[in-house]
Amino acid sequence: RVPLITDALQRPLRDLRISVTDRCNFRCRYCMPEEVFGPNYRFLPQEKLLSLQELERLTRIFVSLGVEKVRITGGEPLLNKDVGEIIYRIRHMDGVKDIAVTTNGSLLKHKAKELREAGLERITVSLDSLDDERFGAMNGRGFSVKGVLEGIDAAASVGLSVKVNMVVQKGVNDQDIVPMAKYFRERGHILRYVEFMDVGNSNGWNLKHVVPSKKIIEIIHKEMPLERVESNYIGEVATRYRYQGSREEIGLISSVTQAFCSTCTRARLSAEGHLYTCLFASDKTDLLSVIREGASDEDLRLLIVQVWGMRQDRYSETRLAQTTPAHKVEMSHIGG
Ligand code: GTP
Ligand code: 5AD
Ligand code: SF4
Ligand code: SF4
Repeated sequence: RVPLITDALQRPLRDLRISVTDRCNFRCRYCMPEEVFGPNYRFLPQEKLLSLQELERLTRIFVSLGVEKVRITGGEPLLNKDVGEIIYRIRHMDGVKDIAVTTNGSLLKHKAKELREAGLERITVSLDSLDDERFGAMNGRGFSVKGVLEGIDAAASVGLSVKVNMVVQKGVNDQDIVPMAKYFRERGHILRYVEFMDVGNSNGWNLKHVVPSKKIIEIIHKEMPLERVESNYIGEVATRYRYQGSREEIGLISSVTQAFCSTCTRARLSAEGHLYTCLFASDKTDLLSVIREGASDEDLRLLIVQVWGMRQDRYSETRLAQTTPAHKVEMSHIGG
């Protein structure tokens, strides 16, 4: 399909990742460490968040500019009581070919049916370990593995196709690489290993904590031989591997060791209606204020075209060459 608009590096706008809340019930060390997101942390008040109508309107405009794939994120998106309605409305927009949700799974057991009924067909659940002690420490709140696994089972039983994201950190959960592979292979869910990234400003990232995808492949291959599989589409974030002689597969998301910026077609919209053109952006465009000042659809469209047209982000490709730390948006604001 001919792109409607392209950025300064000739990348079209195809995906929109929408954060529907900045809140989360977890405090994953790598995303919302308790020291920063403690009892006194001020989350956004309701009136500063996009309303359902504003969210729908903006999404429609993004879709008119070429977005065909939408992902609902957070914080924890299932904390937004309107999440079913949001999915329903976006799912039924002309031009939207795919909609998915990324969740921590803790509320999924109770929400899976509602999401499916809203028209959702697939969901991605984050889970970093099958060991309660490690998982409880990683999620910062002692949430059990069982709750998340029950959420995954509930999702599968209502007919959602499930992927699982595991953020791998050396010395923290690398011992879970193989057990996770086995568990999700048996259940037929695609597990994706995510290289630990330096998102936000408070996760204490260090290259030494990253287990490169190549290493992960080696570790799994020794136990269960793997073979490469072609990408589903250009710009797919995960590199696919299949267990030899089977249909089950895994994915590797190697934003640190094999950056994929050159094919990045993702815009991000925060819960407060700010547009970010990169996961690691420090600049944003406040679309909510523009809406509330009375902008027409055409005004908004032109603004987005202009912002996208100037986009030059390729943070993951330049990360290791950077000398001064930039002040970046927090992951919980734009959902990864
Ligand atoms: P599929 O549509 O199922 O392929 O999902 P996805 O991999 O695009 O999305 P998901 O929300 O599951 O993200 C998986 C991991 O990749 C998360 O850790 C994201 O933060 C990371 N990720 C997604 N998009 C980008 C991106 O544009 N840049 C970087 N650096 N990381 C990304
Ligand atoms: N590095 C890599 N992935 C991360 N995620 C959250 N923080 C990080 C990080 N620092 C993941 C979550 C979720 C997805 C949206 O992003 O675990 O699966
Ligand atoms: Fe919450 Fe997801 Fe961030 Fe963990 S990674 S604190 S579950 S938003
Ligand atoms: Fe896209 Fe920025 Fe991620 Fe690169 S670092 S893939 S430009 S979001």
